[in-house]
Amino acid sequence: MKDKEKYNSIEESRFDYFETVKPHPRLGQTEEESKGKEKFNQIGAYTPRVDGDKIVTGQAPYTHDIKLRGMLTCKILRSPHAAAEIVSIDTSKAENLPGVKAVLKLNEKKVQYAGQQVAAVAAVDEYTAEKALSLIEVQYKTLPHSVTEEKSRETDAPQVHSSSNVQRFNQYDRGDIEAGFKQADVIREFTYRTPNEIHHPTETHSSIAKWDGDRLTIWDSTQAIHNVRDGLARALKIPAARIKVIKHYMGGGFGSKLSLNEYTVVAAQLAKISGCPVKIVLTREENALCVGNRPSSHQTYKGGIKKDGTLAALSLVNYTNGGINRGDRCSEPMIDLYKCPNVKDEQYTVFTNLGPSRATRAPGHVQGTFGFEGFLDELAAAINIDPLELRIKNYSAKNQGDTGIPYSSKHLEECYRIGAKEIGWERRNKVPGEGTGRYRQGLGMASQIWWGAGVPGTLADIKIHPDGGVEIICGTQDIGCGTRTYMATIVAETLGLKPEDIIVKIGNSDYPWAPLSGGSLTTPSVAPATRDAALKAAEQLKQMAAEKLETKPEDIELKDGKLVSQANPDKSVTLRELARSLGRETVFHGSRSGMPPEYAYNSFGAHFAEVEVDTLLGKIKVLKIVAVHDIGRVINRQTAESQVVGGITQGLSTALFEQRIVDQNTGRLVNPNLRDYKIATAMDMPEIIPLFIDKPDPYINNLGTKGLGEPPRIPSSAVIANAVYNAIGVHLREIPMTPDKVLNALKNKEAADEKL
Ligand code: MOS
Repeated sequence: MKDKEKYNSIEESRFDYFETVKPHPRLGQTEEESKGKEKFNQIGAYTPRVDGDKIVTGQAPYTHDIKLRGMLTCKILRSPHAAAEIVSIDTSKAENLPGVKAVLKLNEKKVQYAGQQVAAVAAVDEYTAEKALSLIEVQYKTLPHSVTEEKSRETDAPQVHSSSNVQRFNQYDRGDIEAGFKQADVIREFTYRTPNEIHHPTETHSSIAKWDGDRLTIWDSTQAIHNVRDGLARALKIPAARIKVIKHYMGGGFGSKLSLNEYTVVAAQLAKISGCPVKIVLTREENALCVGNRPSSHQTYKGGIKKDGTLAALSLVNYTNGGINRGDRCSEPMIDLYKCPNVKDEQYTVFTNLGPSRATRAPGHVQGTFGFEGFLDELAAAINIDPLELRIKNYSAKNQGDTGIPYSSKHLEECYRIGAKEIGWERRNKVPGEGTGRYRQGLGMASQIWWGAGVPGTLADIKIHPDGGVEIICGTQDIGCGTRTYMATIVAETLGLKPEDIIVKIGNSDYPWAPLSGGSLTTPSVAPATRDAALKAAEQLKQMAAEKLETKPEDIELKDGKLVSQANPDKSVTLRELARSLGRETVFHGSRSGMPPEYAYNSFGAHFAEVEVDTLLGKIKVLKIVAVHDIGRVINRQTAESQVVGGITQGLSTALFEQRIVDQNTGRLVNPNLRDYKIATAMDMPEIIPLFIDKPDPYINNLGTKGLGEPPRIPSSAVIANAVYNAIGVHLREIPMTPDKVLNALKNKEAADEKL
């Protein structure tokens, strides 16, 4: 991969910038590590999940699986109306139903969306709970509602909140936008749209609440055990120290499980009233209605470009519908990805009577990348330049379009080179849509930027027992990415053991603090803290071994469960012997240190797609995706590749299939299930080639690693739209790219071509 000659289908000299980035030892990295030359055996290798067998054989406990003695089932009554005043709630019949242990009114004023909670019951089983819900009598006085961006923007639209439906929530300016447009040879303006997308994690949301006196234990399917604990403390007005949140395994979250949920508070309240543990498992329908969605976008870009491909001016106005919550800002790709001196951005959120939006895997960036990277391809076509060349021409070494501070590391140009070579970029249509016949092939690409530097202050402890057992303990949570595996690998690598020798303890809010698992920050927070703890343990063990073997600590190597003198390999002591001589369990505290402020910390990547469009049926078939990511050091190649495959699957799914459909008259979701809300399946998936630059970042942390949770999702819808454009010569500016849209676009293009 590092062989420049292999990937020089694009003019070589353009990549010289890359050679000027020099690594420096910082933040506890050794000189060797910072150069990425340290010989790691386990870190960076393909390591199967330490708990993979447990997961695939159904032994790994999910919140759904947990059963406690005397546990009740909670069900929540939800409003069928998009907007209504609640006149009265009568729960007496439900309370009198045998088997019902507690009933709670949750809302006696007003509902703002269909699916909003109104009342809850706890009963001995699911059937009794459902029966009880049907006995609760609620009198609603329905109010006018608005469930579309268009309607909410009308002057006489029903008002969702007490303030105006349309709120400007972000504005950004640099340079002089009007002067920029004057310098441009070509100006284009196009609008791109993305729909609301539902997270639909495999495991629906669930919580169990159990009180022991004034102590509360919560089992929760969550991305954030500490946030759930602290949120509950505020909601219930009890000290956080009296709450413990546990999460062993979960079937995905994608942002919909990032914070405390209303139903978790309800379960805790019902458990208190009934004196029994209470479990709530949301249905698939509830998942679609009330625990989040990706806000829509309606992005209008105007861009000015010079004939040589230099970007002169870029502007964006976006309207986003996040239901009763604020939507997403989606201008980051336009602001940061390329060199452009004159940029203007305005973001407006539009409130509607729909369930609250939530962060969804790479919030804003997914929408913005679909819009902006699509727009760039249309600008490239307008001046007849290769879309990849356009991106390289405007490459920026600093953030804010080259007007800000330098990146700690950025190898996007290498991603371009490798990806272009791998997909065979020279095969693309030189003019979009120049092919003929029923089936038309096309190639497209799209770039990605994200944060994902991790959180300083993340803690992890290593405990060594006198019997030689080694534990790594951290209050993080594995949301499905393989956290336990890389933690075990890092400790094993540092202490000369094997991953299966290490006991990993995570998923409990009593453990040392770690941040929520979102924003691609788990690995770059937890891995460095783990490494720090392991290095501290190794240091003490080396000192003890050196004394025992009458040599210097620098002479000691940790290998195969032993501490060996490198000068005299016959002299060694086992880790177990040293542990025994410690006499009691010994804890080593690790933490994730800070980052020098003079750099911008971002991850980068580029995807390349090959598609085939059936112009008779309007069907798009994705044939191949090459994904090249620059995330600093790769900690576990196997789980990193899975992460990329997952991101591409979701991106393909939204590009071609996913859309939340709402009946405007009733304000209700038409497709709150996985039969009518289409997602991609194995049959839809192309060949995927995940590749990594794998160069440690010199400043970011002691392992030089960045997050990968969101990056592969970011360009994965845009790249398909761009490949379709290359295939048929018309850019589909709205996803999902369903056959009706493809056929309409082809028809309109034909009509336009005839006019010429
Ligand atoms: Mo993610 S949207 O930060 O779970």
